[in-house]
Amino acid sequence: MVTSLLVIAIFFIISSHSKALRFPQELYNLSLNEIFIVDSPSGPPSTSASPTPLLSPTTPAVSSPLVPALFIIGDSTVDCGNNNFLGTFARADHPPYGRDFDTHQPTGRFCNGRIPVDYLALHLGLPIVPSYLGQEGELKDMLHGINYASAAAGIIFSSGSELGQHISFTHQIQQFADTYQQFVLSMGEDVTIDFISSSVLYISIGTNDYIHYYLRNVSNVQNLYLPWGFNQFLASTMRQEIKNLYNMNVRRLVVMGLPPIGCAPYYLWRYKSNSGECIEEINNMIMEFNFVMRYMTEELLHELPDARIIFCDVFQGSMDIIQNHKRYGFNATTDACCGLGKYKGWIMCMSGEMACPNASNHIWWDQFHPTDAVNAILADNVWSSRHTEMCYPMNLEKIVVDKPE
Ligand SMILES: *[C@@H]1O[C@H](CO)[C@@H](O)[C@H](O)[C@H]1NC(C)=O
Ligand SMILES: *[C@@H]1O[C@H](CO)[C@@H](O)[C@H](O)[C@H]1NC(C)=O
Ligand SMILES: *[C@@H]1O[C@H](CO)[C@@H](O)[C@H](O)[C@H]1NC(C)=O
Ligand SMILES: *[C@@H]1O[C@H](CO)[C@@H](O)[C@H](O)[C@H]1NC(C)=O
Repeated sequence: MVTSLLVIAIFFIISSHSKALRFPQELYNLSLNEIFIVDSPSGPPSTSASPTPLLSPTTPAVSSPLVPALFIIGDSTVDCGNNNFLGTFARADHPPYGRDFDTHQPTGRFCNGRIPVDYLALHLGLPIVPSYLGQEGELKDMLHGINYASAAAGIIFSSGSELGQHISFTHQIQQFADTYQQFVLSMGEDVTIDFISSSVLYISIGTNDYIHYYLRNVSNVQNLYLPWGFNQFLASTMRQEIKNLYNMNVRRLVVMGLPPIGCAPYYLWRYKSNSGECIEEINNMIMEFNFVMRYMTEELLHELPDARIIFCDVFQGSMDIIQNHKRYGFNATTDACCGLGKYKGWIMCMSGEMACPNASNHIWWDQFHPTDAVNAILADNVWSSRHTEMCYPMNLEKIVVDKPE
């Protein structure tokens, strides 16, 4: 009941401004913590009382967010729990996943701790963004953004489907369109347009088009396409989806490139790397993917001049970490923290007994995914180019803070 009062209050704030074209300033300042305090006026919130414990009040948001919301589309690099609701092997809702997360519980994140978008939400002054399937569809749960990402999804519809269900790239965009309609119904069109166009949308997808499609030679794809043609195909699909998002008034967009999966423990094991050297053949395809995507986003900038689209080459940032690992405090560069077999790359991470005691000196958490420590560095690079200049033509901070050059 308190919740419905709150929603009415939000409606009031919104409707009293619905004539104005700018998104109401009050909502920028409304953090989930404040909402939470309204919910339980009798004292400090306890995690167990929260209807959505993963929006943990232990992760305070800065009082003045830089943008109203962060929306996320992608695969296991940014899934924060959508796959927990699906019938799939691609799930990270069991220990030791999440053991170093804020709640020290598995959440569905493919990591020991936070994923890059958790760090970025905090840089933006927002609370950690909830998963689409984990929230109840109430306006207040979506006001700071929604994460639609689903592990095993790829740019190609059928990538990853041998693992079971996932929410495909196209379907995630459809879900975003549904959210958009819900905003229009509750806040009106003008406010929604302003809300969406000043928010950030983050896309991180494409690894599974390699891991579960091209490298597995599904449908004889390697005979039909050289990596160059395959990458052109992926980029043209991505380009179309970005235009669809643009037509829904998305104006601030981060497109992530692919990490060096040729250095992932699974491929070191699979391709019998001798002393941990990365599989060059795979990394070459990934570098080419990043090149083609970067070129495509640069073209789109000319075509859609009022959009601010950045491409972040996570391959570059990751290779800097691998090559200068000592400087970053990592000494385990080839072995996953959790898994079995050589490089811990043979069998996936299934239980706490398979994990190293402390992941903080590891680059890789499991067969395919980096540790929390690496995610923090990469997020800092996306945000402010802190360690490596890997976003083009500029970093995220520049597009939201609008700093003059
Ligand atoms: C939002 O917060 C900032 C800093 O905390 C403050 O300066 C500003 O007045 C607030 N805006 C509103 C509308 O409350
Ligand atoms: C891919 O699969 C097809 C059969 O489905 C096979 O003829 C071809 O040799 C394979 N290509 C590679 C590079 O393994
Ligand atoms: C990394 O350093 C820790 C102690 O600082 C040590 O216990 C561990 O064996 C080292 N790991 C590797 C792979 O060298
Ligand atoms: C892991 O090791 C790091 C550095 O040695 C230390 O700061 C951290 O507290 C350790 N984490 C745990 C969970 O023991």
